[in-house]
Amino acid sequence: MCGIVAYVGPKDAAPILLEGLQRLEYRGYDSAGLAVVNAKGLKTRKVKGRVADLAAAVPARFKGTVGIGHTRWATHGAPSDVNAHPHLDHEGRIAVVHNGIIENADELRRRLEADGVVFQSETDTETLAHLIALMAKEAESLEEAVRKALAGVVGTYGIAVVDAQRPGEIVVARNGSPIVLGIGEKEMFVASDVAALIRYTRQVVHLEDGELAVLTADGFHTFTSDARETAKEPFTVDWDAGHYDNGGYEHYLLKEISEQPDTVARTLRGRIDDRFHIAHLGGLNMDARETRSFRRVKIIGCGSAYYSGQIGAQLIEELARMPADAEPASEFRYRGPVVEPDTLYVTISQSGETYDTLAAVQELKRKGGRVLGIVNTVGSAIARETDGGIYLHAGPEVSVASTKAFTSTAVAFALLALHLGRVRDLSPADGRRVCEGLRRLPEQIKEILTLEEQIRELAIKYADAPGMMFVGRVRGYPVAREGAQKLKEISYVHAEAYPASELKHGPLALISPELPTVAVVPDDELLDKNLTTLGEIRARHGRILMVGHRTSEAADDCVVVPKNENELDPILLTIPLQLFAYHAAVALGRDVDKPRNLAKSVTVE
Ligand code: F6R
Repeated sequence: MCGIVAYVGPKDAAPILLEGLQRLEYRGYDSAGLAVVNAKGLKTRKVKGRVADLAAAVPARFKGTVGIGHTRWATHGAPSDVNAHPHLDHEGRIAVVHNGIIENADELRRRLEADGVVFQSETDTETLAHLIALMAKEAESLEEAVRKALAGVVGTYGIAVVDAQRPGEIVVARNGSPIVLGIGEKEMFVASDVAALIRYTRQVVHLEDGELAVLTADGFHTFTSDARETAKEPFTVDWDAGHYDNGGYEHYLLKEISEQPDTVARTLRGRIDDRFHIAHLGGLNMDARETRSFRRVKIIGCGSAYYSGQIGAQLIEELARMPADAEPASEFRYRGPVVEPDTLYVTISQSGETYDTLAAVQELKRKGGRVLGIVNTVGSAIARETDGGIYLHAGPEVSVASTKAFTSTAVAFALLALHLGRVRDLSPADGRRVCEGLRRLPEQIKEILTLEEQIRELAIKYADAPGMMFVGRVRGYPVAREGAQKLKEISYVHAEAYPASELKHGPLALISPELPTVAVVPDDELLDKNLTTLGEIRARHGRILMVGHRTSEAADDCVVVPKNENELDPILLTIPLQLFAYHAAVALGRDVDKPRNLAKSVTVE
């Protein structure tokens, strides 16, 4: 997804902007550009392609101590040099970089064209450059010009703006798309993601929706859209630049899969109480009485976050005996949901910036819902807007496909289910069983990681199939969905997940030697039913890779993982499927960390 960086200070801006853009590459993009301001005016360079192509296009004498940069993920207009940001007004005075979507861009464009403005690009962003330039003619400051221009804009944005006539400052604004200010020594940074700032400073300020900021080398001021000054407290990011290194692994994805013994341990750290067999979740900001007042749980997230929410719903129903279900945030917010006071809403987001999930949080809050966030990125929009929650502490996830955040989210749900259960009917003995199971997870994940070579060989064996079916029952079904999701997004092999119980109601027609099945078969009370399903697939000459706790003659190949408690097994069963997808993608020569058409955090609708 699009990325923004900006710099104002004593140094040359271009190398800092290029470095920042490189740090944002993992989010996905198709073109890149930057603009710097010096006493002679604005200079820009934009290219379709990689940040490395942009760096090659920037001449040595590209001087300026103020600048803005951008990686673009095309929405309005195809990827091209011209459509890349920054966009300038026709006099070349104002330059703008923008994340988000301007919904009334067509109308604004028509109005500006009627006034004689000639557009260069097909983008919605260019309207902003012209509008701000128009306002700048009358305004006393760039901040005033930006504020007035934005008053007529409908849509979402995170923007950074420079003015050739005011070479010492940058104005930024946020509405639905993240903007983070980084505070340095006599220098200021801006980015849409802390990843781009972390090399320079860990002191950051997040803008809220409807907020603007003016940055100079000496500091910053923040304002509301009606020009009232706001007071912001910087906070210290606890991730450092080292967290963003690939640690010697060939791909971030493999690094992040391999980190899971540690990341799961971090999610658990300090949260298990062995005396009362409960979970300490102070961040929920709820006392026992309020916790008991909820009758059901609704879980909301997108993509893999939603699938981890399905694992969460199952855990809550089993351990807390409360009705719980998960739903894609993108669907939830548009179907006019009935928001009830006795429902606990739990939203999930690794990035904490996914637009659909954030919008669902806002809709829930408008309707008086009690909303928690299970979030990885500290200080992100969803973390700020929810009433409380659980941080994953999994460290930054760089690869586009989510792995360690998925397992940590499932672990966080196990803690939440334990917490909800122990203030209701869950017995101390069952609480202890779950606590002990949770403690075993990091070591068991290490054991699963030792199966990598076997899984690599299986991935190579199955990778040439035109498609794969993934099946699982009840606890195994979200695992199958996540397995299919990982495979399709990084290897581009078509993968479809079905509840094993549903095969007979349609998809069995697809089974043939050409469509292998990955079956998630835990040793639980549904084992026999699952083995019967494998028999049905075999009878149709389907090949089967079984992932479970034992081998079976019903399957062609088996990956056997350590057994934990039934409720916690889905967490472990996910890991072989991550490795399977990773090695299938490598075998097929895919760009594992940056799969086509996908972005790390989806900050637009
Ligand atoms: C899949 C994947 C996506 C994200 C989804 C939500 O591997 O990464 O499906 O899970 O876009 O992202 P977050 O968790 O940042 O809200």
